[in-house]
Amino acid sequence: MNKPQDLILVIFGASGDLTERKLVPAVYELFKRNLLPDKFAVVGVSRTNFTDEAFRAKLKNAVEKQGDGEKIGEFLKLLHYIKIDTAAESEYSKVKERLNELKNEMSIGANYIFYLSTPPKFYGIIPKYLADLGLNSQSDGFKRIIIEKPFGYDLESAKQLNKTLSQDYEEDQLYRIDHYLGKETVQNVLVTRFSNGIFEPLWNRNYIHHVEITAAEEIGVENRGGYYDESGALRDMLQNHLLQLVGLVAMEPPASLDSESLRNEALKVFRSLRPIKPEEVNKYSIRGQYIASKIKGELVKGYREEKGVNFESRTETYVALKFYIDNWRWGGVPFYIRTGKRLPTHVTEIVIHFKPTPHYLFSISGQSDTCNQLIIRIQPDEGILLKFGMKVPGQGFNVQTVNMDFHYADLANVSLPSAYERLLYDCMMGDSTLFTRGDAVETLWKFLRPIQIAWADDSKIPIYGYPAGTWGPETADSLIEQNMKWHYPCKNLTNDGNYCEL
Ligand code: BG6
Repeated sequence: MNKPQDLILVIFGASGDLTERKLVPAVYELFKRNLLPDKFAVVGVSRTNFTDEAFRAKLKNAVEKQGDGEKIGEFLKLLHYIKIDTAAESEYSKVKERLNELKNEMSIGANYIFYLSTPPKFYGIIPKYLADLGLNSQSDGFKRIIIEKPFGYDLESAKQLNKTLSQDYEEDQLYRIDHYLGKETVQNVLVTRFSNGIFEPLWNRNYIHHVEITAAEEIGVENRGGYYDESGALRDMLQNHLLQLVGLVAMEPPASLDSESLRNEALKVFRSLRPIKPEEVNKYSIRGQYIASKIKGELVKGYREEKGVNFESRTETYVALKFYIDNWRWGGVPFYIRTGKRLPTHVTEIVIHFKPTPHYLFSISGQSDTCNQLIIRIQPDEGILLKFGMKVPGQGFNVQTVNMDFHYADLANVSLPSAYERLLYDCMMGDSTLFTRGDAVETLWKFLRPIQIAWADDSKIPIYGYPAGTWGPETADSLIEQNMKWHYPCKNLTNDGNYCEL
């Protein structure tokens, strides 16, 4: 693989959780795999008072957690730190001076990536203050900005943020990160669809009955109650991660893998999402909030008792949505997507439910012989499973559903790179294919707008309590018609289909 050009990565919000848990470990992995530029440095920026040494010591533990101590000392020397008050424009000259010093010491051009891992209220001002000092100019080297989610809070705020950023930056300098797109198994959706001749002819309304996407989490809001209570499951997971998965499942084959072709196809899907009418919000969406319960004998707090959460909060920790994609390929095929915290297990998967055979040759009761399903498991036990019917050995023609499965774990000596590793490397290489474009973000907010408005304004729309450790409000099954139920996945891909034991 190619190495990126020499550069400096500047992380705003460097004393925060994401830097320690994800970003620096991902940079370390790139270092071990010899994928960093020959000349490279990280500059952490935040309000906490660290020296370079203290910053390195803090991150040493995070890096050591990755197992081997390979070249840790050498890696840590790449990390530097500056303390500034991110809200104060006057302090940004310190950033510029430090970057100048470092680039001169390293004898490199002014190639900078600015990673915004800060509270979203800074997403507009940090790029602006940098630009005011000329740190947006690409005359002496590239300048790229990586922006963490949430990108906006609703349609208006996302539009405003895009507008602010576009005053000083070109779209190709902006990398809106959605870490789901960096997941190996998410990219494999494209490979499964477009590198195999057998799936694509069936991938449409003629053969697919419905599509289901689940992102379930076992954890609650942990120490992020303050952030989460302002956000909720719709903004935190559905607007971005889940709808990006929909884009990949539903898009037309792009003409090539360049960033514009792929993202144009995703945008076409997002633009074809059938708008949900305000009076139909209740019919197409269900929201829930976990309440206290016992899981494996242990009492688990309800959402409203979590630290940082309003005790009368109506923020959803679970959301399920039904919608249609109004285009030639998907006309009439329902999509069901759901996500929630404090569900029985941590699993993300896409289930393609195929239509039954037109004539039930082997059935006894007039029911379909087999429900063919293709399950694409994003995490954990990453893999793919196809369910199909097989004759039960012996007399008669009894049909049993069996599994054909592939698990990534079976690939010897292959470890899946983390999403952040992939995305940081892509940004260093100037490849924005797996980053979200401004027009796509706005289109997705526009689609969700009627739901956001109705949930905020219409107190008659219920928010259902569900006991922590269950699969969300029972009423979520009512979204799926014809007596069908959601697929209840287990941690283990091949042991799916049953309610997980708590
Ligand atoms: C983040 C959300 O974007 O994704 C978190 O803010 C959520 O609330 C996380 O827990 C889930 O990511 P993953 O990779 O563990 O599925």
